[in-house]
Amino acid sequence: TTAQLNSFLEFGIQLAQLAGPVILEGFNSRFSPERSALLVKKGNTADLVTEWDQKVEKMVRAQIAEHMKDHSFIGEETVAGGEECKLTDAPTWIVDPIDGTTNFVHGFPFVAISIGLTINQEPVVGVIYNPILNQLFTAVKGQGAYLSKIDENPKTQGRRLPLSYPHAAPPLPSLSMALVAGEYGSDRSTDIFDPKVKSMRNLAARDRSSLAPGRAVGHAHGMRCLGSAAMNMMAVAQGQIDVYWEVGPWEWDVCAGIIIVREAGGLVVDGCGREVTDGELLTGRRILTVRGCCGEDGDSSAEASAAAQRKIVQ
Ligand code: IPD
Repeated sequence: TTAQLNSFLEFGIQLAQLAGPVILEGFNSRFSPERSALLVKKGNTADLVTEWDQKVEKMVRAQIAEHMKDHSFIGEETVAGGEECKLTDAPTWIVDPIDGTTNFVHGFPFVAISIGLTINQEPVVGVIYNPILNQLFTAVKGQGAYLSKIDENPKTQGRRLPLSYPHAAPPLPSLSMALVAGEYGSDRSTDIFDPKVKSMRNLAARDRSSLAPGRAVGHAHGMRCLGSAAMNMMAVAQGQIDVYWEVGPWEWDVCAGIIIVREAGGLVVDGCGREVTDGELLTGRRILTVRGCCGEDGDSSAEASAAAQRKIVQ
């Protein structure tokens, strides 16, 4: 029911309120002598970050186990720790404790906890909180998406998304007017990396003559990489970015973002243009595109988006 979903949202916000100060403490401690010593000792940053990730995820998971006894849990660190997490129809909290881990290490402020809830394998509640910028993004299925500060009531004190264009705004006439975000991901093996670079090239290149006929989709107005899937998606939800394109994000990277983008009037599709509404697409690490108001040649339909997608990834 609506009342139930709203109570789950309240709970999700409480989780973000708990996690925020911990993430912020870790973010702000990057110049501390203790942390530098630890970095030198460990020789790389990954282990250190995992400690913060694990700390936040443990805390969130314990709260869910205590207060939502019949709900399931899927978290980035839990899966990394070897636990099998299969998505079922049961209410399931899908959590990335720190999305934008590399940003967290470097002090680049696009870092967020991403908390999504699925019921019957569909994202229905989303909470994304960036404690560095104090931005709380929330949505409940059918009730719109909001941006507020962490201590504000999203609906009464926050602002409804999108911020910069009304829901009914006409789509951009072509990709060449769109600001596009994309990510290269963490897998740098060349067989994974090269096709991504090619796709980015297809999105951005001016030199169409070097592209195969029928594949050029027009160069984008500009390209951005924020380093956090959640933050890229929230840029779309705010109407700042028109398209976010990435190959193979995990379910915890996108679960909360999907419902927030959708409630902000955006579209989330896989590489074949199918709308991501079920668990198969959510957990399959399929190519994922989040689209704001952009449609090729003015066509904002899912079909037009699918056609554009195919051209980009080929
Ligand atoms: C990653 C970030 C990155 C995206 C990856 C994600 P993490 O999440 O969102 O921008 O390209 O697909 O896995 O590792 O920082 O939680």
